[in-house]
Amino acid sequence: MLIRNRRLRTNEVIRGLVRETSLTPNDFIVPLFVVEGKNIKEEIASMPNYFRYSLDLLEKEVKELWDLGLKSVLIFVKVPDNLKDNKGTEALNKDGLMQRAVKTIKDAVPEMLVMTDVALDPYSSYGHDGIVENGYILNDPTKEVLAKMSLSHVQAGADFVAPSDMMDGRIKAIRELLEQEKHFNAGILSYSAKYASAFYGPFRDALDSAPGFGDKKTYQMDPANREEAIKETLQDIEEGADMVMVKPGLCYLDIVREIKNTVNVPVAVYQVSGEYSMLKAAAEKGWLDHDAVMLEQLTAIKRAGAQMIASYFAKDAVKLL
Ligand code: PBG
Repeated sequence: MLIRNRRLRTNEVIRGLVRETSLTPNDFIVPLFVVEGKNIKEEIASMPNYFRYSLDLLEKEVKELWDLGLKSVLIFVKVPDNLKDNKGTEALNKDGLMQRAVKTIKDAVPEMLVMTDVALDPYSSYGHDGIVENGYILNDPTKEVLAKMSLSHVQAGADFVAPSDMMDGRIKAIRELLEQEKHFNAGILSYSAKYASAFYGPFRDALDSAPGFGDKKTYQMDPANREEAIKETLQDIEEGADMVMVKPGLCYLDIVREIKNTVNVPVAVYQVSGEYSMLKAAAEKGWLDHDAVMLEQLTAIKRAGAQMIASYFAKDAVKLL
């Protein structure tokens, strides 16, 4: 035998030396769910060991994240039903929950990189990411609201906005308004290739944001498609996105690699709620080794080309690194 591949697998030292991918705390963005109230840390029923926090306890949580080396967060808010309408009016409230959450985090840990979710669904009485008319989600009026919403988040102190809505032209609308208002360093992490996925179910429980009618297939992408992921992503970069994202993670690693090989901006992956809950459930039943499978999945996402991973496992993972 001239070639024995197993030589480089003989022991952990040589395996470590030839290892191409390793995880570090710098790889993670931590999604955070925020609710109104005081002293609330409530577990999300379909996401074991993941919680919604009121602002007072959010402060404690982000300090803990920082001490673990987790330095970026992505905020989502659960909006009370009486504040929801078709136009996402509450999203623009400068004293809204999102705006206060950004300030709370920046006051508690000034260096924490704060990203905010930009889409209408948590604010929408229809549970859709945009304004609804006759059962259809309007594109152009929605992108104007998303731009104002982004500006409001940045004015509250957000470092990055993360539009997750999949309307056409929203990156340009957001970028132009931020430039016009002289927020030159405000970043945009665009959900560029976001699929109409059944893996978002637990997230919609977390925010009580499931669509009230229909589905999101007229704006989110068809899981069967690859070419349009490239098209969407290149377009977002042209419109001014600083970083792009593929979502969900595991089922879409072919897309991640293809985008990684095509673009010259950092590529993020969102390992979504259903991916989290699936492993938690299997581990609860004793069918899978939770920690081993978690690290294998995260490593695979990074190996596929993710520069950063938004993941509900971030805290569990860094404790093992
Ligand atoms: C809303 C949004 C969703 C997620 C992030 N932002 C849900 C959706 O599009 O319905 C999903 C995240 C997850 O499942 O973890 N615009």
